[in-house]
Amino acid sequence: MSQRESGGLRIRRWILGGGVLAVVVVPVLVSLACPASRPPPVTLAKIAGPPAGAGERWYTERQVAQGREIFIRHCAVCHGEDAAATPDWRRPDAAGNYPPPPLNGSAHTWHHPLPVLRETIQQGGAPLGGVMPGFAGKLSEQETDAVIAWFQSLWSDEIYQAWYRIAEDSL
Ligand code: HEC
Repeated sequence: MSQRESGGLRIRRWILGGGVLAVVVVPVLVSLACPASRPPPVTLAKIAGPPAGAGERWYTERQVAQGREIFIRHCAVCHGEDAAATPDWRRPDAAGNYPPPPLNGSAHTWHHPLPVLRETIQQGGAPLGGVMPGFAGKLSEQETDAVIAWFQSLWSDEIYQAWYRIAEDSL
């Protein structure tokens, strides 16, 4: 390769680098500098954001840790400490009531978008003819979200992303 060609290459790289700067870096800096141009404050559903890569979730480790304590205190008695009860969750008892289903991703909890999960925990099962007690007045919105974060942390990426696709449609 001649001296001239490699000089040309260098210039092309430099121009390309400038392109990246203009397209990626500058808008990021501008959006950081002008809070007004940032997206509106997150509602929980929006935090979920597109799962860009495996392992990306809407919640923080802190929520998961807090949610675990709440779960042990309020939910484990029925759903089991590891949220795996009841394996035979499709079979109603003699009175026609369904047992507490596993929340660990092995049952169908992932079919419910976030607002429905929150509603179920706050209102309990009564509105749908179920027997789970409601936690309105016992768990704040923030605590409810934390407990959801905890049981979702048990879900595989595959289950989480299937849930996310359903949740996204309902937004
Ligand atoms: C007294 C037992 C009991 C307690 C305590 C309880 N649940 Fe439940 N839960 C149930 C039952 C039973 C169902 C099935 C629906 C129904 O009958 O209401 C259920 C259903 C659910 C569902 C819907 C799952 C699905 O796949 O549709 C969620 C979510 C849930 N519970 C979360 C919780 C959380 C979180 C707590 C603690 C804050 C909790 N539950 C405490 C008994 C309980």
